[in-house]
Amino acid sequence: MRTPYIAGNWKMHKTIGEAEALAGQLRSAVANTAHTVMVAPPFTALQAVGAVLKGSNIKLGAQNMAAEEAGAHTGEISVLMLKDLGVEAVILGHSERRHTYGENNALINAKVKLAIQHGLTAILCVGETLEEREAGRVNAVVEEQLELGLDGVSEGQLGQVVIAYEPVWAIGTGKTATPEDADAVHQIIRSRLAGLYSQAAADAMVIQYGGSVKPDNASGLMAKPNIDGALVGGASLTVEQFLPIVQYDKG
Ligand code: PGA
Repeated sequence: MRTPYIAGNWKMHKTIGEAEALAGQLRSAVANTAHTVMVAPPFTALQAVGAVLKGSNIKLGAQNMAAEEAGAHTGEISVLMLKDLGVEAVILGHSERRHTYGENNALINAKVKLAIQHGLTAILCVGETLEEREAGRVNAVVEEQLELGLDGVSEGQLGQVVIAYEPVWAIGTGKTATPEDADAVHQIIRSRLAGLYSQAAADAMVIQYGGSVKPDNASGLMAKPNIDGALVGGASLTVEQFLPIVQYDKG
């Protein structure tokens, strides 16, 4: 039985004070949920949000990290620095990192392995662009991102990996994949994981959906057999929007 995992990706939003305020509201609001909950504030607010969430059932996440532990990497943040702040999970290979900042599968794979080696949960994002979808390449693109992203990751390490399927055309656009379309891709991902590892490993893997998840579409998505949670951007920025997603109606 997979525990639903709802993550909020705050992206480049919120000053320290704003982040503390939201974390404080969320802390009490989600105290009784049976779901796994994580928020990923911007780096500058990690310490403050970590202090607010200490002892709560909300995990502290980061939105990215460097592929190296230390060294001459101007502007980068190391896994050691994240651990120092109490970070437990890190979003890797987000489409904004892939498409706006040119991260490729090899770089993302290096980050995934480093995060795992240091005991973090790696949330590996995969997903096709609109152009790739229209060219009928959804499965090929997603499978390639999955295989290359997990290259060198053993079955025993998969407990530290969450996959997030985020169709690029659905992120921040208000366009969501239908629950049926999303579930079909989640099924492809799970089958590929079974091929790469084992059916048991694939069955245990949490696969989140991301891309314009809102309070009014969360339940429909989560009702699907292969959708185990959500990676939420815009709607994670207020407690009014995020709470009903965390506590989605199981129907
Ligand atoms: P969105 O972002 O919910 O604003 O579409 C999702 C994401 O990028 O993780």
